[in-house]
Amino acid sequence: MKHSLETFFKPSSIAVVGASANPTKIGHAALKNILISEYQCKLYPINPDDEEILGLKCYKKLTDVPGPIDLVLISVPAPIVSQIVKDCVTKKVKHIIIITSGFSEIGNHQGEEEIKKIVKGTDIRILGPNTMGYKNASDGLDASFAFGIPRKGNVALISQSGALGIGMIYLANNEFVGLSKIIGMGNKLDIDDDDLIDYFAKDPETKVIGLYIEGIKEGRAFMNSTKACDKPILVVKAGKSVSGARATASHTGSMAGIDAIYSGAIKQAGGIRCRDLVELFDMARALAEQPPAQGKRIGIITNGGGVGILLSDACEENGLVIPKLSEKTYKKIEKILPPSVKPNNPVDLAGDAGFYRYWSAAQALIQDPNIDGLIVASVHAGYARPREYTGAILKMINQQKLHYEYKKPILGMWVGGKEFEDLVLDLKAVGVPIYPSSWRTARVMWALWQEGERIKRTQKK
Ligand code: ACO
Repeated sequence: MKHSLETFFKPSSIAVVGASANPTKIGHAALKNILISEYQCKLYPINPDDEEILGLKCYKKLTDVPGPIDLVLISVPAPIVSQIVKDCVTKKVKHIIIITSGFSEIGNHQGEEEIKKIVKGTDIRILGPNTMGYKNASDGLDASFAFGIPRKGNVALISQSGALGIGMIYLANNEFVGLSKIIGMGNKLDIDDDDLIDYFAKDPETKVIGLYIEGIKEGRAFMNSTKACDKPILVVKAGKSVSGARATASHTGSMAGIDAIYSGAIKQAGGIRCRDLVELFDMARALAEQPPAQGKRIGIITNGGGVGILLSDACEENGLVIPKLSEKTYKKIEKILPPSVKPNNPVDLAGDAGFYRYWSAAQALIQDPNIDGLIVASVHAGYARPREYTGAILKMINQQKLHYEYKKPILGMWVGGKEFEDLVLDLKAVGVPIYPSSWRTARVMWALWQEGERIKRTQKK
């Protein structure tokens, strides 16, 4: 049986072949990243010309290393890679990450076929070639050559592009989205998206799985793993346009395929296709922190009528419904509004709404059995009080988390300037999903509804 990915992400021993004392080399960065990780394991640099690198004893060949090796990172030029893979087989290594480029992405399919032949009949698993490696934030191990430490959290990212994967770490950090693991897939010679979905499906540190893909090699396996996974799966599939498809072929040697088929397959398997990476992070944050919506009926609260209308339009365009208020809810909200304003959905609290109006209206809607999810919006309308708005959202979300009485998702939406932005950061820092756009907010609510539907389908089986 092939080695489990558990030892791939949590190896007891790692060797870096092509480790270099030269700080400009990728083999130096890979060794250094593992060394500075808080993760404890044996670490062996391999280089025929050095005795010691970064204070670690250096071995001339893999086969000279005295103990067993769970994971080998290869960072030598393409023509030498197959010899190193042969050494891995001799040494009974469990997992290999081939950082080296110059394989199928430039038409060198033969090089990959040769590696496959060498490992045939063994239990070795290979990531790459043409990959950055991975960062395991849950356990504090950086098995990549790229700079950047992710915020620890519960979103696992699988990226076919290494550089984009690194960009995604910074984007996630900026958006206060914590990661469990991030992995660069490269050319997918062996370890493929489905293997990782299967692994993350069982990984207790992962709640949401996000993928950036350019092509899928094993369509059936991808669908089966996605279907079997009981966690939300978000997919950005690139290469939709003619020029995008051309670019994927030279980037990772992938065939972009017919886009509509991808869309259909992702949906059928229960995944959610995202328009871009920003949407993926928007949805990931909410799916990781909020309960799914049990239905599509959404309540909207705002201090600005215009934003309420924009949100209603965006929700309806995404298949959500903004129902009229029940009599009971109407009466509850009527009590807290100025006499000149009548309750509706969207609930317009008037421009000067403070903590109490927001909080009371939010409670009334959350308690309404005709409402499945809540969007609370604020416009910095001159005399608005952003601190009171964000305070009300925090209180509602904490109440929900503590009691989980109603199990309904709450999203924030805001329009304003710098002062507002700082307060939004406070919310994001504690995991509250809040967005500066009606469209983005509605898309996230749609994703929470889709997740609710997926769970209902799986519970029926
Ligand atoms: N065993 C161990 N070490 C060896 C061996 C061997 N058999 N043969 C050579 N080496 C050493 C070299 O002596 C050198 O060490 P030195 O600096 O002490 O001399 C080291 O291995 C590296 O070899 P170089 O020939 O210097 O190769 P270099 O480091 O320039 O390039 C690399 C190797 C990085 C793998 C390059 O071929 C490559 O593929 N670069 C692109 C990598 C990449 O971008 N991958 C995709 C990532 S995804 C993304 O986009 C982020």
